Amino acid sequence: MPLLLFIVFCIGIIFEENDAQLLSAVKLSQSVPGLITYPDSLDWQTNGVVTPVQNYLDSSYMNAVVMVETIESLHAIATGTLQRGSIARVMDCCATNMTYGCIKSLGGICTYDDYPNVLGKCQTSVCQPFASFDTVDEYYGLNDTALLPLIQKSTLFVGFYPPEQVFLRYKGGIFQETNCSEANTMYALQLVGYDNTEKGDLYWTAKNHWGEWKDWGESGYIRILRGANICGFGSLVYQPVVSAVTTTAKSIPITTSSNTSQLGLTLKILFFVLVLYTAYL
Ligand SMILES: *[C@@H]1O[C@H](CO)[C@@H](O)[C@H](O)[C@H]1NC(C)=O
Ligand SMILES: *[C@@H]1O[C@H](CO)[C@@H](O)[C@H](O)[C@H]1NC(C)=O
Ligand SMILES: *[C@@H]1O[C@H](CO)[C@@H](O)[C@H](O)[C@H]1NC(C)=O
Ligand SMILES: *[C@@H]1O[C@H](CO)[C@@H](O)[C@H](O)[C@H]1NC(C)=O
Repeated sequence: MPLLLFIVFCIGIIFEENDAQLLSAVKLSQSVPGLITYPDSLDWQTNGVVTPVQNYLDSSYMNAVVMVETIESLHAIATGTLQRGSIARVMDCCATNMTYGCIKSLGGICTYDDYPNVLGKCQTSVCQPFASFDTVDEYYGLNDTALLPLIQKSTLFVGFYPPEQVFLRYKGGIFQETNCSEANTMYALQLVGYDNTEKGDLYWTAKNHWGEWKDWGESGYIRILRGANICGFGSLVYQPVVSAVTTTAKSIPITTSSNTSQLGLTLKILFFVLVLYTAYL
């Protein structure tokens, strides 16, 4: 009998200790349907932290372009100053290791003006980097709805896998091709915002880097149906992050959909009932 009491007492302590963890787990699971709400729309362009559409048709530049764009925008969000970064330097110095890690090891990005053209070999002393980041968050296989909290912080590098011919012909409207395969070529885009049409269609706004090529897209941008993982949208996402930076992002209203501390109360009541029952035995 005292042994049984002791066991129940131990279980009670475990419950108490897990209480906080349990509660935060409940909070997380509820955050999808409505614990946290985000603005109906967001466009980092209108915040003045996105450079004009670049003109790099050569697909070997694609990753360098979008990595540099996300870093220059991150810097602009943090400092209020938007400067065009040098893609050429990344092409010269990270050719065999086209990653955020390589850019970080170079001390960040230099300005376009300091290093405008590819020189054919890495010239580290030509310029002083003006912007960098601390870490890069990587996400694979996300439901694209999960990009909503991420885009509140800064722009994102996203991989997109549309059928080549459909993508090349895109002239505007909300891209919603469904005949896609991850075997398709990846296109890298800078995700800059989201909104919805008057009809209520949700979409993402992403920046390509084909300049004025054949009047592609909507002034070089593409709108992609949101919430449907169109053509692998969300399956490859990078976000450079600067720790402890206060951004100019709009504050996010937090709404609580239910009082989660009730669970803790229930567990405590359950514990005392068990103790009383055991004592009664
Ligand atoms: C790429 O560069 C980063 C940073 O210097 C390094 O950590 C990583 O190992 C490199 N990767 C390859 C494949 O060389
Ligand atoms: C993505 O998440 C949203 C919101 O939770 C959900 O409605 C939708 O069904 C999910 N889509 C997929 C493909 O799982
Ligand atoms: C789907 O895409 C594949 C490969 O791109 C193509 O062969 C096929 O005809 C497409 N199907 C439809 C219905 O468009
Ligand atoms: C949740 O319950 C606690 C204690 O019962 C109370 O102090 C708190 O205000 C409640 N929170 C909400 C959002 O209702």
